[in-house]
Amino acid sequence: MLNTAVLVSGGGTNLQAILDAWTAGNLPGATIRAVISNKADAYALIRAKKADVEGIVLSPKEYPDKEMYGQSLIEILRERKIDLVVLAGFLVILPVCVIRAFPGQIMNIHPSLIPSFCGPGYYGLKVHEAALGRGVKVTGATVHLVDEEADHGPILLQKAVGVQRGDTPEILQRRVMEEAEWILLPEAIRRYAAGEFSWEIQRCRECLQGDPTF
Ligand code: GRF
Repeated sequence: MLNTAVLVSGGGTNLQAILDAWTAGNLPGATIRAVISNKADAYALIRAKKADVEGIVLSPKEYPDKEMYGQSLIEILRERKIDLVVLAGFLVILPVCVIRAFPGQIMNIHPSLIPSFCGPGYYGLKVHEAALGRGVKVTGATVHLVDEEADHGPILLQKAVGVQRGDTPEILQRRVMEEAEWILLPEAIRRYAAGEFSWEIQRCRECLQGDPTF
């Protein structure tokens, strides 16, 4: 069984899509072991409770530095024997020590077709504002493995979503979630558990090991 932890910061609609797929039996080979939030009032924690999944609050504000926050996160993940960490709207930049402790074992969802509209500063509505500002006709979502650069690791899955005349960032965000994110993330976990991403995992590990500071 692939022991999975989901890291969240807010409403947790992506988490809900994962929990729904899991409880419906559509994630054979994976179990959702814990939900970790940096915010105590994240609605995602209520979703976890309803699904009978352990919810944990771990706020960087309670630690003197990022490194110590990261060490505490690693400890929580190791205690629960977590094999896969899913970033589902987690707004904290993951400390490098965590990325290195779980090479090729962390996936993230980003609400654009990487490499467009991604990297530092592109989060939440800003991604959709930028897509509309550039006038693209197609955007979408990407699930990728996490390396040390923001929104950069090997791509696992992508799905395109059309932009429509009159879209606001809020309308586009909603459509990208409904038509892409909520489908892609459970699918990525299912396929990861089925061993379909060994090439991408290997590439991610090589990239991390190739880093001279590793
Ligand atoms: C999603 O758009 C996700 O792509 C981004 O943050 C949002 C999270 O939404 N990283 P939710 O908390 O899953 O509802």
